Parts: sequence; structure tokens; C-alpha cells
Amino acid sequence: MDKFLIKGGKALRGRVAVSGAKNSALPVMAAALLTAEKVTLHNIPKVRDLITMSKLLAFMDARVSVAEVPASDYVIEAPRLNHTEAPYELVKTMRASILTLGPLMARVGVARVSLPGGCAIGARPVDLHLKALEQMGAEIVTSHGYIEARAPKSGRLKGAHIVFEKITVTGTENILMAAAMADGETILENAAREPEVTDLVALLRKMGAQICGDGTATLRIRGVAELHGTEHTVIPDRIEAGTFLVAGAITGGDLTIANCAPEHLGAVIAKLEQAGVAIEIVDKSTIRVRGAKRLVGSDMTTEEYPGFATDMQAQYMALATQAEGTSVISEKIFENRFLHASEMMRMGANISIDGHTAVVHGPARLSGTTVQASDLRASAGLVLAGLVASGETLIERVYHIDRGYEGIVEKLRGVGAEIERIHGTA
Ligand code: UD1
Repeated sequence: MDKFLIKGGKALRGRVAVSGAKNSALPVMAAALLTAEKVTLHNIPKVRDLITMSKLLAFMDARVSVAEVPASDYVIEAPRLNHTEAPYELVKTMRASILTLGPLMARVGVARVSLPGGCAIGARPVDLHLKALEQMGAEIVTSHGYIEARAPKSGRLKGAHIVFEKITVTGTENILMAAAMADGETILENAAREPEVTDLVALLRKMGAQICGDGTATLRIRGVAELHGTEHTVIPDRIEAGTFLVAGAITGGDLTIANCAPEHLGAVIAKLEQAGVAIEIVDKSTIRVRGAKRLVGSDMTTEEYPGFATDMQAQYMALATQAEGTSVISEKIFENRFLHASEMMRMGANISIDGHTAVVHGPARLSGTTVQASDLRASAGLVLAGLVASGETLIERVYHIDRGYEGIVEKLRGVGAEIERIHGTA
């Protein structure tokens, strides 16, 4: 297994470009299953989750071709779907495989998808996805670890009035795709408002779907008989951009972050400014961040968009360890998302955890040691901690970070970080 070796203490300076959003690319690729025609996608990040999604679509008999240059261009064609199954072997490495359930049900009216099960950050059930599909007439049984779903006799799902008990991002995306070709109108209330959901709506509209209300908590989808091929460019990754913002801030550097979407980063920018970090929106796709001499801690609660993203919580915690005062971090989205805290504590951070709340006292002098990455965003938090720690930090299990950050080592080295990948065999 690969590891990262970081020598901390360098202020990051220069320009770094953000890749396409992983969490947008995943549903958008799954949406290509909705049509027999060609769907061309641009700005797909080169990360492991997207390779897994390609394998999954190929397993179902879709043709996925990736251009040589730029490798972020994908063409997907699914004239026939002979295997309407997402097997355990693929689902276990990527929970977002559940995103094929909605499109399969809409296109062929039958799907067999392995249950995703738990993951490091909590139980993460998919009950809301299934309940909503049942409201649309699907018959669903779960047996032998698989979800087996079948549309009503007509072969088509029917529009329904669905109110999500809890806001779910991939749940909203699944139902959007299922409803796009259902019989009649679907109204989805308490829907997720994340920019990635809005990006999926933009693609579906280009494919011929009739959707309104994107960006709000109520989506209205009028089902159409058929969707067609199109071309789409995925939005920039706001979590990668946010991670670089913290990297610039925490190292006292001066970073220009290009190819990003500042309008999706409101909550992160506000928090960093509160910490005393200077942020300049240079233009509609560029932000400049300069670290403060003295960072000031403040409380933060993770929330659904447009609130502060849970996917930025570990990175904010790394910053809070370097900020003066007490920062109370409340995790409201996932039940077990503080695994990085104990690793940061091993580096010298002063953090105490009580259930969903972490109390960080700063600033603490971090010192490098061997730490373990437990999930994708926790790994990013540990990289940030390593960038400010004295001496060497060795991060194990970085396959987690490779799931979602394109070329993180190369990008950080490009702005002056001393970080290298140590290739492992086991
Ligand atoms: C997506 C993102 C992930 C992000 C998360 C929250 C993708 C591929 N992943 O994950 O990076 O951290 O949103 O912003 O886009 N829940 C249920 N039942 C369900 C579905 C969800 O109880 O059927 C709960 C979850 O356990 C969690 C909360 O709802 O506590 C939010 O989860 P959800 O928005 O569904 O997360 P994902 O879509 O899996």
C-alpha cells in the first residue's frame, strides 16, 4: 500500500489548478445509462472512484472510452444494458455505485445492486433511496446482500410525491434520474441543494429531461418517454478547492487556486476569513489565499449545502489546531467522522471528542509521526496537518485519498510542499 512522506514547515506559494468534481462526475456518468445515445463528458477527474464507476458501467455493457489527451474526456454509450447489476466486488470499494439504481430502474425497469453496507464514517444506509423508489411503484426486496428492484408491470416507474425525511445527496440524485423517465410528475421535497445535484440537473436537461426547482429544496420532474445523448462539462471540485484554501492558509503561504467555482465555496471562505485569512476572489474561476500571521479559532457546524460541508470538516480541524483559542466543531451529517482527530492528537494536537462534538484548543505545535488515513477526507486533513508539523509525517493507507484527489502529491509539490509518494507492495 502506498504512503505519503511529508516534511512539514514549507509555506505554499504559486498557482494550483482544481480538477472536476468527483461527486458530480459520479452521478453524471451514471446518468449516461439513461440513454442509448452517446454522452460525452469533460472535466472528469482522474481519481480511483471514477475508474470504479467506469468498470461498473462497462460491467453493465456500456462502452466507456477515455480520450488520451486530455484524459478527462469520457465518451459513454449504452445501446443495450445486458447486465443490470452492480456487483458486490465494485460496490464494496465505492458506495456511490448505488447511483446506478435510479438510471437502471428508469431505463430497463429492473436492477440488482449490492447493498453498500457501512463504512468508516458511519452506517450510511440507503433506506431513503429505496422508500422513494417504492413510492414510485418499484417492488424492492433485499436478499443475500443485494437490493433487487423491479418496476411495475408497465415497465415504467410512476411519478410520486416524495418527501425525504432527511436530506440525502445521492438519494436526491437517484430519484432525479429515476423520475426523469417515469410516467407523470414527481415532486421531491426536502431535496439536496448541493451544486453537484444542480450539475446533474443541468446534464439531464440537456438530455431532454423536464426538471425545475434545482438549487431549491423542492424539485419537480415531469417524466419523458426517452432521453438522448449530449455533451457536458463537470463543475470544479469544491472540496479540492477548499482543501487548497486551507493548505494556503495553514502554511502561511500565498496560493492562487485556478479552475475553481468561488460561488460554491461561500461557507468555507466565510470561516477562513473569520480565522483571519485573507481571501481574494480574483475572477469567476480564481481565488487567492494568503495565510495570516495569527490564525483565530472559531466554532463550526457541518451542514447540508449551502452550509459548511462535512467533506471539509477534517481540513478545518487541521486549521483549528493551528488557530488561537477554542474551536468547537460539531459534526451533524455523519455519526463517526472524527477518526482523523485521534491521529492529529498523536501529532500533538489538543482535541477532545464528545460524541458529535470535537473541541480543539490551539495553537498546538504538531510534530511528524506515522499516522493512518481512515477515509477520503480524513486523509486530506492529515496531509494538511503534515504540512505544518515539524519533521517527517508518514501517512499510511493513502488509497483513501486517491479515491478522490487527482494528483494531490504533484499538485502540492508544484506549490512548494515537500511531499512524496512511497510506493508499497502490500
Ligand atoms: C454524499 C457525498 C459525500 C458527502 C455526503 C454529505 C457523493 C458521491 N458523496 O454522500 O461525499 O459527505 O453526501 O454531504 O456525492 N442517510 C440515511 N438514509 C439514506 C441516505 C442517507 O439515513 O437512505 C443519512 C446518512 O447516513 C447521512 C445523511 O443521511 O447521515 C446524509 O447522507 P447523504 O447525503 O445520503 O450522503 P451520500 O449521498 O452518501
